[in-house]
Amino acid sequence: MLKGKVVVLGVTGSIAAYKAADLASKLAQAGASVDVVMTPSATEFVTPLTFRSLTPGSVVVDMFEAAIEHVELARRADVVVVAPATATTIARLAHGLAEEMVSLTVLATKAPVLVCPAMDSQMFENPATQANLETLRARGMTIVGPEMGRLASGRMGAGRLPDSETILGAIRYVLGRGGDLAGRKVVVTAGGTREPIDPVRYVGNYSSGKMGYAVAEAARDRGADVVLVSAPTALATPSGVRLVSVQQAAEMRDAVVGECRDAQALVMAAAVADYQPSATAEQKMKRHTETLSLELTRTPDILAEAGKGFVRVGFAAESEELVANARRKLESKGLDLIVANDITGPESAFDADTNRVVILDRAGGEERLPVMTKYEVAQRILDRVVELLAKGS
Ligand SMILES: Cc1cc2nc3c(=O)[nH]c(=O)nc-3n(C[C@H](O)[C@H](O)[C@H](O)COP(=O)(O)O)c2cc1C
Repeated sequence: MLKGKVVVLGVTGSIAAYKAADLASKLAQAGASVDVVMTPSATEFVTPLTFRSLTPGSVVVDMFEAAIEHVELARRADVVVVAPATATTIARLAHGLAEEMVSLTVLATKAPVLVCPAMDSQMFENPATQANLETLRARGMTIVGPEMGRLASGRMGAGRLPDSETILGAIRYVLGRGGDLAGRKVVVTAGGTREPIDPVRYVGNYSSGKMGYAVAEAARDRGADVVLVSAPTALATPSGVRLVSVQQAAEMRDAVVGECRDAQALVMAAAVADYQPSATAEQKMKRHTETLSLELTRTPDILAEAGKGFVRVGFAAESEELVANARRKLESKGLDLIVANDITGPESAFDADTNRVVILDRAGGEERLPVMTKYEVAQRILDRVVELLAKGS
């Protein structure tokens, strides 16, 4: 997705400028061609040499001394990312100034622009900064962050530069806008539901949510409008994805049914509890008896209630008779595809970053994939979803 893309990274004079080095490095590792433009103030915080060492691309500070034409990088860019963006630079961009390389490049480019503000919270909250950001938004630029947290001044507030992963996600989102899922709404479920026993305990499962989050990211990277209905996980919300947080199967059902009304695809990667406690104790249960029986009731069948008229993909995590059990589920639930994974192998265990799956379809087809990262598996599933959408199913 980032392979072969030209990312022009604009670095400005914020205390967070050192984080841009990590971003440049991660972009280069992801296969992007990275050129860096810096304001003179940025070089007070981090040297051009840092970026020259991290990426083979150009690093330009002085437009009058540059070895390339002053608008060359603006023309070459697939995306321009200003990270961190100071209040001063944001004001320059809002006013169309071009007095140093970062604002000149933004003014001269036709590529999408991401602006990642980083500053003290009082500078960020100032009406001048807010109005300038609104101007940039209205012109179609994407504003990423800032995040809440501890600032360089020691105060808590909004002003922190988001981490590199979040900015990378936003770049992927912007670059994916013209992808083969552009204009399609994809609903993805993830995580393991929690069915409450009492105020402190629940019936749960080992699902990490990684597979569903990978599907959400991959769909976003192909231009889809993604809604991620997620049970609790330890994962960060992918940029550009709308998160609906739920706990129980019944809440997940409500969210999925609502979201699927105008969706073109549903990918159910969540590990939904099959049973929930028949009653939830109002107070914390005490350890009085030697044994304790818990009565369980079947949870709603989300796929059955989600409706029809869109591509429906289920997952089957099995510990035995993988393909036979998955095919039974595909047929009984009337799915278009089912992704079967054998949870007994280390490469496809619950918390693993890889998976080994078989994709079964309605026509009896069985696509056996080798061990891949969950993101790669997600892309292969979405290849099939795109095929089905093209056929109009
Ligand atoms: C130690 C220090 C840290 C600074 N950090 C920030 C910052 O995080 N965000 C910001 O908007 N300005 C910050 N400034 C002020 C900018 O460096 C200053 O406004 C500068 O003119 C920005 O220029 P530029 O946008 O051309 O890089 C800081 C200044 C100093 C001295």
